[in-house]
Amino acid sequence: MKYFNVIPALLTLVLSILSLVKCQNVCNGYSGLCDRSYTNITYLVTHDSYAVGRNIAATQNFPIIDQLNQGVRGLKFSAVAPILDRAAVHLCHTSCSILDAGPASGVLDTIAEWLDEHPREVITIMWNNLYNMKAGRLANVYSASKIMPYIYTHDSSKPWPTLNEMIDSGKRVVNFVDSQADEKNIPWLMDQFQLVFETPYENTDQNSFKCTIDRPSTLKSPDGHMYVMNHFLYGTLKLGNIEAQVPQRDSATVTNSKSLREQIAECTRTFGKKPNFIEVDFYDDGDAMEIVSELNEVPWVKLAGVIETPISTPPVATKAQFPWIPTHIVINNSALKEGIQTLKILYLSLVIAAFNF
Ligand SMILES: *[C@@H]1O[C@H](CO)[C@@H](O)[C@H](O)[C@H]1NC(C)=O
Ligand SMILES: *[C@@H]1O[C@H](CO)[C@@H](O)[C@H](O)[C@H]1NC(C)=O
Repeated sequence: MKYFNVIPALLTLVLSILSLVKCQNVCNGYSGLCDRSYTNITYLVTHDSYAVGRNIAATQNFPIIDQLNQGVRGLKFSAVAPILDRAAVHLCHTSCSILDAGPASGVLDTIAEWLDEHPREVITIMWNNLYNMKAGRLANVYSASKIMPYIYTHDSSKPWPTLNEMIDSGKRVVNFVDSQADEKNIPWLMDQFQLVFETPYENTDQNSFKCTIDRPSTLKSPDGHMYVMNHFLYGTLKLGNIEAQVPQRDSATVTNSKSLREQIAECTRTFGKKPNFIEVDFYDDGDAMEIVSELNEVPWVKLAGVIETPISTPPVATKAQFPWIPTHIVINNSALKEGIQTLKILYLSLVIAAFNF
């Protein structure tokens, strides 16, 4: 009789050891990635990761936590001071009056909680520092959040660690900023363009993606740098003599499949290495996840059971409900000068578009 009591306990023990072993052998979801250097892996990055929902400036269908749950491992953020609270730092798209995802510290807290629950994941945060905020100000945003214990500091005299080494050290969040880095005082907020270049980001059709070094403009050779391959589209909205560029949600399925494969092949040839970061809009449309798994030479598993949990963001807009939702808006300033009348038309059109959904 006694044996029968022992068997379940033994089974539980064996199972927990097994799951522990399994768990320890997995890095970013795959054992095959554990011994690879951070720099020898392709990460899917969401462009303006926090720009979600029923908004004129939304670039993603799902909130950040869903993105992370589904395998996104790079986040692109813009820090903006809201007009009514100049001391604050929010995540906004271009301007906080267009899209405001709230205080950046709050978003970092949410990410820290996700990291607590996912101890074997390494992620990257890239700041598009549109308004040239001082590094110290961005660092204060981090200090005010729960994410600091996870922040990785790179020693430039050493090679990059493997994912396993990063996970073992607990330092699993890599941070880059594209302007105003101050590595002397804030070494962990790395100067992106010293280490990572980008391909052009203002693309308007499937044929416009190029494999050239766009930023930093002074960099001549891809050697010694990682790179971001930008692969999202802006459409062109013509209003009289004014052109406004808006993103193309409708074509994301194509943009994130065939067209994505083509640019990857071309950039891999041109630069002699696979992209480290592939930055997309509406990452869940198309095959971006599958393509990144292929690049990493790991089997792709569709996470069918993932629950899409809206966090503190607006409701998720589906394509069926909102067939045309513009996002990033780029206005040709020289055309704007041609007349206040056309400016009014543009403004009206955008307002109408915004309120139409
Ligand atoms: C990168 O990883 C691949 C796949 O494991 C491996 O074949 C290749 O040698 C690695 N490259 C470098 C530079 O470590
Ligand atoms: C902006 O508009 C002007 C005037 O319409 C035009 O000449 C110019 O080529 C445009 N610039 C771009 C970058 O589209």
